[in-house]
Amino acid sequence: MSKKEKQVDAGLRQFIKDLGYVAGGAALLGTVPWLQSFTPDKLDEIKKEKARIGLIGVGSRGQYHIHNLLEMPHAKIVALCDNYEPNLKAALELCPDAKTYTDYKKLIEAKDIDGVIVATPLNWHAVITLDSLSAGKHVFCEKAMALTMEECKAVYEAYKQSDRVLYFCMQRMFDEKYIKGIRMIRSGLLGDVVGARCHWFRNNDWRRPVPSPNLEKHINWRLYRESSCGLMTELACHQLEVCNWATALTPKSVVGIGDIVHWKDGREVYDSVSLAYHYGNGVKITYESLIANKFNGMEEQILGSKGTLNLATGMYYLEDEAEGNSAIEQLLAQIGDKVFSAVPAAGASWRPETKKVYKAHPVIKGKFNVNDGMSMIGAEKDGSDEMLSSFCQACITGEKGRDIVEEAYSATTLCLLGDRAMREQRCVEYPEEFKIPFMKF
Ligand SMILES: NC(=O)c1ccc[n+]([C@@H]2O[C@H](COP(=O)([O-])OP(=O)(O)OC[C@H]3O[C@@H](n4cnc5c(N)ncnc54)[C@H](O)[C@@H]3O)[C@@H](O)[C@H]2O)c1
Repeated sequence: MSKKEKQVDAGLRQFIKDLGYVAGGAALLGTVPWLQSFTPDKLDEIKKEKARIGLIGVGSRGQYHIHNLLEMPHAKIVALCDNYEPNLKAALELCPDAKTYTDYKKLIEAKDIDGVIVATPLNWHAVITLDSLSAGKHVFCEKAMALTMEECKAVYEAYKQSDRVLYFCMQRMFDEKYIKGIRMIRSGLLGDVVGARCHWFRNNDWRRPVPSPNLEKHINWRLYRESSCGLMTELACHQLEVCNWATALTPKSVVGIGDIVHWKDGREVYDSVSLAYHYGNGVKITYESLIANKFNGMEEQILGSKGTLNLATGMYYLEDEAEGNSAIEQLLAQIGDKVFSAVPAAGASWRPETKKVYKAHPVIKGKFNVNDGMSMIGAEKDGSDEMLSSFCQACITGEKGRDIVEEAYSATTLCLLGDRAMREQRCVEYPEEFKIPFMKF
C-alpha cells in the first residue's frame, strides 16, 4: 500500500469513527441506512481485494472520480470509455494502464470489470445504467437519476429486480456535517420542522468553449432540453434530496416559475427558477436558483419551531438565542467602539431592526469542510469520495446500499415535476403511478 493509499484508508476509518458508528451504530443507521454497507468490519474484510472499475464518460466529473479512485486501496481502474477523443486521452494520462473504449456497450461486455461509473450527460444515464445492470455490472451513476419520469421508473424497477449494486452520486448522503445535522434534527434540536429554504446562486454562464459548431450540443449538453433540465437536474436535485432526507417525507405538489433572464445565448434551459414544494403536513420548501448573481451563494436551511439548521454550512441557530437591538442602539454602540470617525446618517453595518442576530453553533466540533457551491466539477471533501469508496466496497461484497436509489428517485422525480410545473405554469401533484413504497407523503 502506497503512503497516499494508507492516508485514504485511515481517512475512511476516521470518517466512520467520527460519525460515531462504532459507539452508537444502531441510532446512526436510522438516519443513514445506506451506511450498513460501510462498516469498519467490512472495511477489514475487503482489505486485500480491489474492485475492478470501468468509467463511462470521462469529462470533468469522470476525471474528478479518477483522481479519487487512484487514492483508494480497494479500487483499480481497468477501463475507460468516452466518445470524445480529447477527454478519453486526458483520462488515459491519469491511468495509463486502463483499456480504452469508445462504445460503452463493448466496455460492459468485458469480464474483468466488477463495476462501472457513469459520468456522461444526463440523457445517457438511464440507458447506460439499464444496459450495465443487464450485463451484470454494479453501477455508480452520476446524479440526476434520469431525464424523464418514465426513465426513472424503469431504472428503479430494473434495480429492484436485480441483485446488482446501484448508487447515484448524491454525495451529501456521505457528508459528515449533513449526517450529523440530520441526526440532530431527528433528535428534536429544532423542535417541529416548519419549513425549508434552499438556494443555489452562481454567476457563471455554464458555457464551455467548443472547437467546432457540430460539437455544441455534445459539449454544452447542460444548456439543451434534449440532454438536461438545467438548474433543476444539475443543482436542485442535491438540495431537494437533503430536504426530503431531513423531513423523511416527499412533497405532494409543486408550483414554480422559470425564465431565461440573463444568458440569452440560444440556451433552452432556464437560468432563473423559483419554486415552492408542498409537503402533506403543510411544510414547504422554497427553492431558488439563478446563475447571473452569486451574492446569496448556496444554502440549505431547515427551519424549526426552536431553531434553524443550515446543512450546507454545518451551523445551527436557536430561536431563544436571538439578539437584536435598535438601529440607534447599534449606532451608539458603534460610536462607543470607535467604529466611525464621524457619525453617519446611515450605515451598511446597521442591521435592520426587524432582523435579529443569532448565535451560530457548529454541527461538528473541530475543523470541517464547507463548500461554496461554485465549482461545476465538484468540491473536495464533500462526501463524493466516501460515497465512491463505499460503492467500491459494495462491488466486492455485493451488498446493496439501502435507500440510495430511493433517495435519488425521489429527488430526481421532484426536480422533473418542478420543471413541469414551471413549463406548464400550473400546480403539479406527485403522480400516483410514479409513487414508490419508500415515499411518505
Ligand atoms: N455529483 C456532483 O456534484 C456532480 C458535479 C458535476 C457533474 N456531475 C454530473 O456528472 C455528469 C457529467 O458531467 P460533466 O460536467 O463531467 O460533463 P462533461 O461534458 O465534462 O463530461 C461528460 C463526458 O461524457 C462523454 N459522453 C457523452 N456521451 C457519451 C456516451 N454515449 N458514451 C460515452 N461517453 C459519453 C462526453 O464526451 C464527455 O467526455 C453529469 O450527469 C453531471 O450532472 C455531478
